[in-house]
This record gives sequence, C-alpha cells and structure tokens, in this order.
Amino acid sequence: MTSIDSDAKIPNNVDLAGDRRLQRALEAWQPKFIEWWRALGPVAFQDRPVYLRTAIDVGQEGWANFDYVEMPDYRWGIFLAEPEPDRRIAFGDHLGEPVWHDVPGEHRADLRRLVVVQGDTEPASVEQQRHLCTTAPSLYDLRNLFQVNVEEGRHLWAMVYLLHRYFGRDGRDEADEMLERHSGDADNPRILGAFNEPTPDWLSFFMFTYFTDRDGKFQLASLRESGFDPLSRTCDFMLKEEAHHMFVGATGVGRVVERTVQLTKEHDTDDVRQFGGIDVPTLQRYLNFHCSVSLDLFGAETSTNAANYFAAGLKGRFHEERRVDDHRLHDETTTVPHATDDGIGEREAPALTALNETLRDDFIADCRKGIERWNRTLAGVDAELKLPHVGFNRNVGTFGSRRVSPDGQLVSEDDWQAHVAEWLPTADDRAFVESLMVGVTEAGKMAGWVAPPSSGIHARPVDFEYVVL
Ligand SMILES: [Fe+2]
Ligand SMILES: [Fe+2]
Repeated sequence: MTSIDSDAKIPNNVDLAGDRRLQRALEAWQPKFIEWWRALGPVAFQDRPVYLRTAIDVGQEGWANFDYVEMPDYRWGIFLAEPEPDRRIAFGDHLGEPVWHDVPGEHRADLRRLVVVQGDTEPASVEQQRHLCTTAPSLYDLRNLFQVNVEEGRHLWAMVYLLHRYFGRDGRDEADEMLERHSGDADNPRILGAFNEPTPDWLSFFMFTYFTDRDGKFQLASLRESGFDPLSRTCDFMLKEEAHHMFVGATGVGRVVERTVQLTKEHDTDDVRQFGGIDVPTLQRYLNFHCSVSLDLFGAETSTNAANYFAAGLKGRFHEERRVDDHRLHDETTTVPHATDDGIGEREAPALTALNETLRDDFIADCRKGIERWNRTLAGVDAELKLPHVGFNRNVGTFGSRRVSPDGQLVSEDDWQAHVAEWLPTADDRAFVESLMVGVTEAGKMAGWVAPPSSGIHARPVDFEYVVL
C-alpha cells in the first residue's frame, strides 16, 4: 500500500508526489479552498486554537492526531482506506468481476454525477452552520461544531481528489464549481434541497447531525460498495469521521432531553420553557422537520437511475455483502409505499427500481435507535418522542403531492393548515429556541437548556479548554 506523506503541502496516502500534474492541479485548487473556508466557513474564532482531530493515517492502530490548531491551518488531506486484495464487485451485472481501478468509459457520466452530488453536500453543511459558533452552549460544543466543519471540508477534498484524478478536464471544472455554488444562493444554490436551508440554532444543529449526517452515512455506505475501487476506499475512510458527526447529534439531542427531564422534575411541570428548557412538544416538532427533510434526500420510491447505478455496479446497498439474495435483483420484487386519494397503501415494485426505498428503510431503522435511547430518559417524566410517518411533510415521491399527518393519516389541505402548528416548528418555537442561544465561552460552563456531556473528547475532561479564546 502507499505510504502516508504527511509533510506534503497536501497530506495524502495516494502518492501525489508521484503524479506531478495532478499534484500541481490540486495545489492550485488548495488556495481557492482556503479562500472559500475563510469567506464561508465559521464566522468567528478562525484565529483561535481549537483542540481538533486531524486524520493522519488509515490503519487500525490509530488514524488521527488530536492537537490545537487554528482552523485555516488545518491539515486537510487525501486519504483512502487500504485496498482490499483481490476485491470483487459484490452486486449487479458485474457481480464477481474484479473491481475497477479506473473509470470505465461507459459509466463515466454516472460516476461523475455521484461524486459531484456527494461532494456538494460537504461544503454546503459548513456554509449552513457558519453562524452557530457565536451561540455555542459550551466550549466543548463549539469544538465539536468545528470538528464537524473541518471534516466536512476534508470530505470535499476527498471528492475533489477523485474528480481531479479520474475525470480530467470536466472533473477539474466540477471541483471549481463546488466552491462556486453556495447554500441558499438564489442564483447558484447547492444541488440538494436540504442543503440550502440554514441551520439557525443549536437544536437544529443537533437534529441536523442526527438525521442529515445520517443520510450521509447511508449514502457513503452504499458508495463504499462501488465497483469503482477508489470511490469505495474514499468513502470507507470518510465513514470513520462521519461516525463522530452522528455522535454529536445523538448525544446533543440526548443532552437536551436530559435537561428537559431535570427541569420537569425540579419544577414539577412539563411547561419547562419558563425555566429555560425546551419542552417535549417543541423537540418533537424539530425532530419531525429534520427527519422529513432528510427522508426526501433518498429520492422517489422507485427510480430507474438507482436501478441503473446498481446494475452497473456503481452504487450498492447498505451492507451489501451481508444480504441474503442474489445481489442482482432482476427477478425480485418488493413493496413500496403508495398514496392515492383513498389512503396510504403499498404497491409491488421490482426490487431493482425500489433501491431508494430500501435505503430509506435502512435509514429509518437506524434513526429509531436514537429515539429509543432518548425515550428511556423521557420515561422518567412519562413523555416520549416518535419518528414521524415516512409520508409526513415530504416533497419527493408518492407523498410529495399529499398531506400526511405524523401518525400516517392522509389529511386534507384544511386539516393540514389547522394542525401544522402542532407538527412542525412554528415561528414562535423558532423565536423561543433562538432566545435560548447565548454563547457560553467559559471552560466547563454549559447553557441552561442542555445537560453537560458525560465525558470529554479524547479522554480530556469536560471542563477542558477546547477552544482557546
Ligand atoms: Fe461529510
Ligand atoms: Fe458529516
């Protein structure tokens, strides 16, 4: 395997030094990236030392280094997981054939599209979250926000490397466009809808990292199955970093829930807003919003694109090799949700075209685990959170033109308007949550709406100076 070049301008384990043209092209992209980071990355603290994890290796015995770094000096590098000897394509019409180490000509356009769509989400989320640093509930949380941000930056590097290395001139153009589209820009927005919504407050951030970064996990996990081996190895390594992003979401929401339960018990009321806590119905509405927006990211229930990607060996299923079927799916059928004027039912569909729904189902099952954990805390005050029905607040697919309540009833437009304030965050909810957002910058201190974490980062104490102000 290729060794790590950690002193290079761009740290990497892809032997950049052995390909001068590529190295020069990426070194020319690097200042544009830094310029983007300074302009559209975090709005403050860019010149402060932050205790950050940096990827430095891909091996089993530790792949990251923890130290103080000022974010513009972060060592964004290019790392691919170690190659699997004699790896074979695990699905589709090329099942059992050796994986590709270059882009097959006939799949070039599709692969480029997959890389561009994935890559676009990475800088998008940094842009969405750039204002949050001024209202972090603690230094610990501020550091976690920055950790997520710099790693999304590295994920952009991961995709830009693939574009430069394997897609020639078009790839270089696409890499430049990654820095030209901006989240929420009226003229040149990010590609996917959910990545054009701002992340206005920390409750939204925790929900975003729980649900939307988890969509990222499932996309990366199915691209890790790809027959295009460089894409597979890239995504494999990105998943290591992604786990922390979901940890931030799961423990973040968990700590809000814990604080809500504390305040409920202390004051013997579930109306905890007057005591600076976030009440369960508000948490539920935020959850409903972020869950439903993330469900849309998987696309329509049936898709010929998804079928083609699978048949061609470009994008597999979550945990493809653990599945017990023929991994070709030509003769298999499944059921997908189907909404009509009469109600919500199911219809049969070829398994091959229903792959978006299969991935969405896997995502929903994964989301459930966190909800169950939060509900164990909420059981102490007889409250619970629920995942909304898959059809709730959707804009894509069979539910896109329907109104569905969180418990899965088809409702009229009038009913929707009458109840939407119970189901989705209202202007009043947003204003209230916003009013709780005050930056806490004293080490070990925590804003009043969220409980402290149970432990610190990388064996440091919770009151460690994670960001030096
Ligand atoms: Fe990412
Ligand atoms: Fe992420």
